[in-house]
Amino acid sequence: MRDKYGRNIEYLRISLTDRCNLRCKYCMPEEGIHDKKSHNEIMTLEEIYEVVKISTELGVWKVRLTGGEPLTRLGVTGLIEKIAKLDKIKDVSMTTNAVLLKKYAKELKEAGLKRVNISLDTLKEEKYNEITRLGSLRDVLEGLEEAKKVGLLPIKINTVLINGFNDDEIEEFVELTRNEDIEVRFIELMPIGQTADWAKEHFIPNTVVLEKIKELEPVEIWDKSSPARYYMLPGGKGKVGLINPISHQFCGNCNRLRLTADGRIKPCLHSDEEINVLKTMREGGDVREVLINSILSKPMRHHLNEGETIRRNMVRIGG
Ligand code: 5AD
Ligand code: SF4
Repeated sequence: MRDKYGRNIEYLRISLTDRCNLRCKYCMPEEGIHDKKSHNEIMTLEEIYEVVKISTELGVWKVRLTGGEPLTRLGVTGLIEKIAKLDKIKDVSMTTNAVLLKKYAKELKEAGLKRVNISLDTLKEEKYNEITRLGSLRDVLEGLEEAKKVGLLPIKINTVLINGFNDDEIEEFVELTRNEDIEVRFIELMPIGQTADWAKEHFIPNTVVLEKIKELEPVEIWDKSSPARYYMLPGGKGKVGLINPISHQFCGNCNRLRLTADGRIKPCLHSDEEINVLKTMREGGDVREVLINSILSKPMRHHLNEGETIRRNMVRIGG
C-alpha cells in the first residue's frame, strides 16, 4: 500500500530480540542498555508471524530479520520457515553479526532464508575483540564461509566507519570485492540512543572511501529503495556501497516499516514515533488498521541532521 507521499510500502524489518551476544561500542554502552525488556513484553514468534501475515495483505513481500542478534532468539528457523511459505513473500533475509552463523547457516537456508548481511567492522582479530568487547573474528569468518557454502547469496558485509579505528582498513575491505561477488557497504555512524555521543566523536563521512580508493567507479543499480550508492573496482566482481543515513537522499524512496521486538511499529528509523501493535493484538483489536495507520504516519523525511537524536537504543531497533 502507498503512504501519504506516494511511497509503496513493501518491506518489513523485524527486530526479533533486543539481546545480543556482542557489545559493539557504538551500539551498546559497556554497562548494558537501560531499556532492556522482560520476557512478556517481547512478542512471541506466533505474534510476529501474525503481524507479517497481515502486512503481506497490505503489500509487504520482503522481510528482514534483525536484532540485537537474531540468531540468539530461539526458534528463529521455524519462524523463517513459516514466513517464507506465505503466499506473497518473495524475499526473507537477515542481518547478523555471524558469530553463530557457522552453526545455523544450513538450517536457515533450508528454512527458506535467501541471504544474509553480515556486520563486520574490522578484519583484525584484536581489533574485532576491542570493538565488540566480546567477539572473536574467527567465528565470523567461519560463519561467512559457511553462508557462501550453503548459498545464502549474495553476501553483503556492513562496515560501520569509525574514525581512528577502521579508516586504515578501507582498502582491505574494498579488496574483498575484487575477486568475489561480495557487497561491502560502508555505513556512516549514526548518533542513536545511549551511545550517541560516542558516535559523534568517532564520525567520519563515507566520502573518505572515494578519496582513499580512487579506482572506484560509480554504478547504477535497479533498486532505488536501497539506501546505498554503489561503486565497483574496474574489473571487480563485487560492489562497494556507501550508506549515508543522515542525508535525505533516500527518504523519498523509503519503502519500509520496522517492527521492534517489543511490538512497536516504527514508521521511520530516525524518529521516536512508535505505534504499539502488540498491545492492540493482545487486546484483540484490529491489527490491520494499526498497520494501515502506521504506513499513513510515515514522515516525509527525518530530522536527524537538524540536531535531533532518537532515544531508543540501536540494539533495540535492529539497524
Ligand atoms: N550507526 C551506524 N550503524 C549502526 N549499526 C548499529 N549501530 C549503529 C550506529 N550507531 C549497524 C550495525 C549493523 C546494523 C544492524 O546496524 O553495525 O551492521
Ligand atoms: Fe550486537 Fe549488532 Fe549491536 Fe554489535 S552492532 S552489539 S552485533 S546488535
